[in-house]
Amino acid sequence: MRASTYRDTSVNVRSRLIVAIDGPAGAGKSTVARRLADALGYVLVDTGAMYRAVALAALRAGLAWSDEARMGALARDLIEQRALSFERNATLGVRVKLSGCDVSDAIRTPEIAQGSSLVSAHAEVRARLLDLQRQAGGAGGVVLEGRDIGTVVFPNAEAKFFLTASPEVRARRRYNELVANGANDGANVTFEQTLADVKRRDAQDEGREVAPLKKATTAILIDSTSMSIDETVAAMFAFVKKVQRE
Ligand code: DC
Repeated sequence: MRASTYRDTSVNVRSRLIVAIDGPAGAGKSTVARRLADALGYVLVDTGAMYRAVALAALRAGLAWSDEARMGALARDLIEQRALSFERNATLGVRVKLSGCDVSDAIRTPEIAQGSSLVSAHAEVRARLLDLQRQAGGAGGVVLEGRDIGTVVFPNAEAKFFLTASPEVRARRRYNELVANGANDGANVTFEQTLADVKRRDAQDEGREVAPLKKATTAILIDSTSMSIDETVAAMFAFVKKVQRE
């Protein structure tokens, strides 16, 4: 069943909820979050894209991702100058802009994935982006995807999900995505490297001191290892509808 099959048309329910979807890299969060937001008629906020944009800005400025002070100052400057923005494009969906330039594709490389994971470990970077995320989601009617939405950004979100899958399945999905997007012709990156990347990012995201990746106690655990995207979205949609009726 496609998400559009069960588009929400009801009016006598509490609407405009905050929906949090957290989980490790490659669990299918982006696809599922987009489909769920469409089905609910909600705005989608991809918080990982914010960390990726900071990592890309650092790379372009020749700054080291490990440099905590510089990364904090960079995130502060980007926010103060409103250099980081999201725009909805009718055909392409949500586009990420850095100083007016569309970087939606440039932030999706394995290099930036690794950089964003390093950058996201710095407390000041997280504090700066936290404000942006709360502004984006505070009014409700929003699906936010990330690592710490249910634990830190919106601990009181009405619907919280923790989406995961085995590292092998997540690496396979990432690898297929890279091939499909033409970012990999099979010679650049192997499946084994993608699996190693996934495991390394898991360790970094789960092991950092500030807002580590972990399931909120009140989040619903969904293991998509053997579930299709349709099944996953349908399960989440049903839960959100139930919360709205309560
Ligand atoms: O979801 P993603 O792969 O686009 O995220 C990129 C990195 O950003 C990820 O390795 C960890 C970090 N991240 C985070 O720390 N907190 C979030 N809410 C979202 C992403």
